[in-house]
Amino acid sequence: MRELLLPAVASGGGRRGKAAESALREAIRSGTLPKNTRLPSSRDLAGQLGLSRGTVTALYEQLVAEGYLLSKHGSGTTVAPLDQPQQATKSPTEAQATWAFDLKPGVPALSTFPRAEWLAYERETLATMSDAELGYPDPAGHPELRAELASYLGRVRALPTKPEDIVITSGAAEALTLLARTLYAQGQRRIAVEDPSHSGQSELFTAHGLRPIGIPVDDSGIQAGLLPDSDCSAVVVTAAHQFPLGVALDAARRRALLAWARETDGLVIEDDYDAEHRYDRPALGALRALEPERVAYVGSVSKVLAPALRIGWLVLPPELRAQVVTAKTLHDLGCAPLPQAALARMLRSGGYDRHLRRTRRLYRPRRDALLDALATTFPGWRPVGIAAGLHVVVRLPEGTDDVTLSADLAARGINAPALATYAHSPASRPYPGLVLGYAALTPDRLRAAVAAMRGR
Ligand SMILES: Cc1ncc(COP(=O)(O)O)c(C=O)c1O
Repeated sequence: MRELLLPAVASGGGRRGKAAESALREAIRSGTLPKNTRLPSSRDLAGQLGLSRGTVTALYEQLVAEGYLLSKHGSGTTVAPLDQPQQATKSPTEAQATWAFDLKPGVPALSTFPRAEWLAYERETLATMSDAELGYPDPAGHPELRAELASYLGRVRALPTKPEDIVITSGAAEALTLLARTLYAQGQRRIAVEDPSHSGQSELFTAHGLRPIGIPVDDSGIQAGLLPDSDCSAVVVTAAHQFPLGVALDAARRRALLAWARETDGLVIEDDYDAEHRYDRPALGALRALEPERVAYVGSVSKVLAPALRIGWLVLPPELRAQVVTAKTLHDLGCAPLPQAALARMLRSGGYDRHLRRTRRLYRPRRDALLDALATTFPGWRPVGIAAGLHVVVRLPEGTDDVTLSADLAARGINAPALATYAHSPASRPYPGLVLGYAALTPDRLRAAVAAMRGR
């Protein structure tokens, strides 16, 4: 039975039929009941409002006559497609659809998501889940997923991990949120971040009371020698593949970073967001393996499978983990177990590795097509950070205004963010550049995108 709440009627006295009619008209006009909403049958609505069926039939007929409702035999009564006030802003996917070429970095090839396989994992999971497992979950995460991740991280990221070290989160975003809340509760009010870096992360920290302090990045990664003067006790690094510049943190800087953490009782937050994607360089092991007591490791399926799954994880030293599990419990009592258990199956069956092999084979020719097209069309542009990841940075000739260039490209339907937008302040902008994601476009589309960049 469909329900319909018309508050004006519930509280109204006397002429309840007319009150219901006006309330329904107003709910449609204001967009509270959006177009195509299916309404209860006249019998059901009569029961819910305590009116006679005849009264409800008459008010439906009146609103059909006025054009507010449609009544079709077999599909009941629905709200007519009227011009209603906009209820929501465009979703990111709707916004994307307006670009002729969307080179925004950070999105894998979503068309490769293994839908049938994932459905099979979810189906098998649901079929074998006990009733008890449909109750409140373990706030630290599904035990099977934590066990599978521990062996995956050991195998693929050279990171020795026990299931008891892990907390499952809603993406890397929630992992960072929980860390931010925990650091805030410990009395911290500042956090060091790479400059340039993911601007959404700085906004996230600011929203949780931590002021992001930018530490410059050069060809060897974050300049760890500047940390002692930053007045911060925690720093976020993308050591395997700096976002957005694409450089790897070199061995000397790794040592300096960990020495700083040891000497100052500091915390290194290792955002390992896309370490699995590399093409012409050997894998770099996770930083946490070198100093597990000082490093909080953050991982996510967003760059391997799809951001929409909202699955991420933290690997933490014991004391910090206990605080983070408390924060997670207070936040939402734990992530949904069904997708977690499906991912555990995917890892156990080898499906995750297979998917990675498949997408790596796909991304490399995409990257090469983009680099070739850029080299031919813009010989003065120099791509950097190309050995790994899902994007490249192109270094533009000195004196180019990358913000103006990016705006000009956007006006022509090409989404190519300026490197300047990842800097923490105008003064800290590195060289002029564009940050180009290539994973989601075929080689032909990438060549067409570069041709379109050259333009008129
Ligand atoms: C630097 C960086 N870290 C982490 C993530 C992944 O975030 P999430 O797992 O919340 O989707 C992204 C995605 O844009 C990113 O660019």
